Amino acid sequence: MTLGTRTVSRKADHIRINLEEDVEARGVTSGFERFRFVPQALPEIDLHDVSLATTVLGSPVAAPLFISCMTGGVPEAERINLTLATVAQDYGLALGLGSARVLIEHPEALPSFRVRPAAPDIPIFANLGAVQLNYGMGPDECRRVIDLIGADALVLHINALQEALQPEGNTNFGNVLLRIADLCEALDVPVIAKEVGWGIAPDMVIRLLEAGVAAIDVAGAGGTSWSEVERHRMEDPVRRKVAAAFADWGLPTADAIRWARRVAPDACLFASGGIRDGMDVAKAVALGADAVGMAGPFLRAAAQGEQAVADLIREITDVVRVTMFCVGARSIADLRQTRRLLNWTEAPEMPVRETLSYHTSQRGEFVDVTDDIAAFIRRAGVRNGVVHVQSTHTTAAIRINENEPLLLDDFRRMLDRLAPVGGYDHDDMARRPGVPEDEPINGHAHCQHLLLSSSESIQVRDGQMALGRWQRVFLIELDSPRDREILLQVVGA
Ligand SMILES: Cc1cc2nc3c(=O)[nH]c(=O)nc-3n(C[C@H](O)[C@H](O)[C@H](O)COP(=O)(O)O)c2cc1C
Repeated sequence: MTLGTRTVSRKADHIRINLEEDVEARGVTSGFERFRFVPQALPEIDLHDVSLATTVLGSPVAAPLFISCMTGGVPEAERINLTLATVAQDYGLALGLGSARVLIEHPEALPSFRVRPAAPDIPIFANLGAVQLNYGMGPDECRRVIDLIGADALVLHINALQEALQPEGNTNFGNVLLRIADLCEALDVPVIAKEVGWGIAPDMVIRLLEAGVAAIDVAGAGGTSWSEVERHRMEDPVRRKVAAAFADWGLPTADAIRWARRVAPDACLFASGGIRDGMDVAKAVALGADAVGMAGPFLRAAAQGEQAVADLIREITDVVRVTMFCVGARSIADLRQTRRLLNWTEAPEMPVRETLSYHTSQRGEFVDVTDDIAAFIRRAGVRNGVVHVQSTHTTAAIRINENEPLLLDDFRRMLDRLAPVGGYDHDDMARRPGVPEDEPINGHAHCQHLLLSSSESIQVRDGQMALGRWQRVFLIELDSPRDREILLQVVGA
């Protein structure tokens, strides 16, 4: 059997197994059921003004929903891809195609990938396996595939477990990250790194972004399980048991996306894997996804025809629209920013955070922030725990002491005695290369800050800060007046 025919028969198996067998992950869920939106009873917006329009890698799309990479290269894929492309074009959604490795070896497989004529306006993603970069595939082959398809971006799928389970799997993943970096450098189109349903953890999110990928689809666990798909292709009962051991493998998609967003606040991030309805899509966006992909459900709909795919898209986008309305989000940017999605299973124990902003009025000002912190604790609903108060500045301190005006004058004089204004190396701008023109002369403020502190932690008992009778919390301005921020975090229940 040649490599080409083996690839082709595997692809046909994949379609058949996905359509005929139950291949959903077992013992692990996508995790979205742990999160619930807190409704905004008065949304203060008109449903008609809610817009799902957004962009994917700079291209406009009608909604943050895309069809994940699936198939191509076998006769049955031709109709599936054409159906998906036609409807994606009608609804203005991005579309991923399945691995086009077969196209490198067999250009005659092109018809099943030739969807551009049916979808001239939407972003289309070509797809290849990242590990193939160790098996003879390089920038030239990738470029050829991108050109043949007319793709706007290249998805590199990362599927170590699947390759390990396939009898014909390519398991040499040594130095693949380096090769991804070289490929990103060489290609003119953006490269998207994607798992296939086991998730990309934050450490690898950072390394992939450093390698130069333009976007990451965390493609987490809880949906189609590729160990289960491969298990259905196996005849050896021992190997079937090995595959079965991975039915609950992987990082749930909800956790993968929120962790990825935490380490990459500005990156382009997609969520997929176990996305099954519009509520999952809305939650994925609120947890940090710029766009959300779905594979299995679109395959099953495509098998029924264009109407079924269109109905699925309408249902999902309508649920997203109504959800946005009910949480007061007019745009996808609003939904990304919403604070109304809570982890329901952990909410009472979760740390609650806020940032308070102040504008100070003079050097040496002691801003009494005690009441603002007390109000924050009431909002957080924490009865017993600890509140942590932190200045984010090196010339504005946080300190607990007594709010007695004469004493505050004493403090100011003491600080000026210990670190008077002027005479610091830090103030000699000629010796500080690249210093901005408006850099303040503030060596004294830094030195005074060193004597104080950036933060205080205060116990919370019965919903109140456990401060002594005379204790107040101050933000202390040591520099000239300016905007200041303090971070609050309360942990407790
Ligand atoms: C029939 C089928 C074929 C697939 N082929 C590919 C592929 O070639 N490349 C790829 O990156 N992912 C492929 N996938 C994986 C999906 O893109 C997706 O990551 C995975 O199925 C999880 O999403 P889901 O739970 O929505 O199905 C395929 C999925 C299906 C159902």
